Amino acid sequence: MKLLMVAVENGALPGGKVGGMGDVLRDVPRALAALGHEVAVVTPGYQRFSRLPGAERVATVALPFRGRLEHVGVYRLPPRAAAAVRFWVLEHPLFAACGAIYCDDPPGRPFATDASRFALFCSAVVHALVAQQLPRPDVIHLHDWHTALVALLLHGDRAAAALADTRRVFSIHNLALQGIRPFAGDESALYSWFPGLTVPRGMVADPRYPDCVNLMRAGINLCHKVHAVSPTYAREILRHGEEGGGGAGLEVDLQAADREGRLEGILNGCEYPAPAPAPPFEAWPGIIRPELMCWLGRSDQVRSCDLLGLRRLDDWERAGCARPALVATSVGRMTAQKLSLLARPMADGRPALEHVLDTLGEERLLVVLGSGEPALERLLTRCAGERGNLLFLGGYSETLAELLYTGGDLFLMPSSFEPCGISQMLAMRAGQPCLVHAVGGLVDTVVDGETGFRFGGDGPGAQADAMLGRLRDALALHARPRDWAALCRRAAAARFPWEEVARQYQERLYRGA
Ligand code: GLC
Repeated sequence: MKLLMVAVENGALPGGKVGGMGDVLRDVPRALAALGHEVAVVTPGYQRFSRLPGAERVATVALPFRGRLEHVGVYRLPPRAAAAVRFWVLEHPLFAACGAIYCDDPPGRPFATDASRFALFCSAVVHALVAQQLPRPDVIHLHDWHTALVALLLHGDRAAAALADTRRVFSIHNLALQGIRPFAGDESALYSWFPGLTVPRGMVADPRYPDCVNLMRAGINLCHKVHAVSPTYAREILRHGEEGGGGAGLEVDLQAADREGRLEGILNGCEYPAPAPAPPFEAWPGIIRPELMCWLGRSDQVRSCDLLGLRRLDDWERAGCARPALVATSVGRMTAQKLSLLARPMADGRPALEHVLDTLGEERLLVVLGSGEPALERLLTRCAGERGNLLFLGGYSETLAELLYTGGDLFLMPSSFEPCGISQMLAMRAGQPCLVHAVGGLVDTVVDGETGFRFGGDGPGAQADAMLGRLRDALALHARPRDWAALCRRAAAARFPWEEVARQYQERLYRGA
């Protein structure tokens, strides 16, 4: 089959990944190609990918956008490792609006910049397909709200009639971000981008703001198949829930998709290369320090967390770098989704994170890697200043992530909701069991008491209590070395191979095209 993935991240290209969606776009095309499919991935170029060595401009798409004729370059990249996957890049100055894959808009105009540039991208994809400047696929597979507009354009744009029957698949990676923009009255609005578009408003209007288009909803309602990235998430999103939990306001549409047999929950996968050896604890300061120095070098002012981190490394070295009794780790973006349970005040008014540190005690250590929302970074920085048993690394680097996956003893992932999650699979693959909130893909990857620890509870208060309870259980098991080693072995033996994911896509998403 000829498959075309349309996405705004592609982890196979340098700098092409922000989150887990980038990993999926890097790995699943390869696995599908191995099954014999012809796979193409098209992303915006952000004025970077079109300059990669060997990138070749093969066409220019001319299309009307916001009342002007725009010209978008079509680039083909040379084949990478898996020759059966072709990478295409569409290029226009607007795609580099803020120099990053996602731009931050002021709270009053959420998604304004991204929605406009991704609208131009989606329209360029459709025009390039109609003009056969991109190869015509049997299936167009769209990822998250950013590319859902392709489905709306295929539905309502007469110029796209040639593609109207092409099978459309929509993957939901995170319902918390839906791409909601006004229909009209703003420079970043559906009718401003495409004045003459025929729009089935009843299928794409936001359920809360009827004068707005909800692009996530458009993807759900206008595609033949809707794919959620884990079986448990596919069930959770049928329930009412706010702030990213449950269906995040789109549950009625998702229930309809489910009734019509259009909704499929398929767990993401993980690659299993030969395991990398874990460096001994004495080596940690020598690995972490250069990364902190780089971060310091890149910022105009000294950040407290970097300085505290360097001091902490000095302290370890002065004390002889003996490995703590247990090293708990956490890697992830600092967002409410990932960290609000740790930030939550407990009965005594102190955040759950402080209780976690109390429970770990002086002889154990917690190392947290990630950056994001300033309030969460501040909480971590404050605790790292007050406590000797917390090291907060306020940024991201592959080297440090790898160190924590391979070198930690217990990986914490208390996400409030988690469509799939990849970090838990990476930690498990390195033999590090995880303590996770029993939601979404975490339920489908961590077996409680077998390969890790799960906690649940009704509402955030009960969940935070349960998290601390299960942490105590984990520490008790850790004190029994044979049982702990068996748990680590089972975690390391769990497998979520991409080949299996690709077979599921083929059977449940693409069949019928
Ligand atoms: C989003 C979700 C995450 C999932 C990833 C890839 O980032 O938050 O849970 O693993 O997409 O599907």
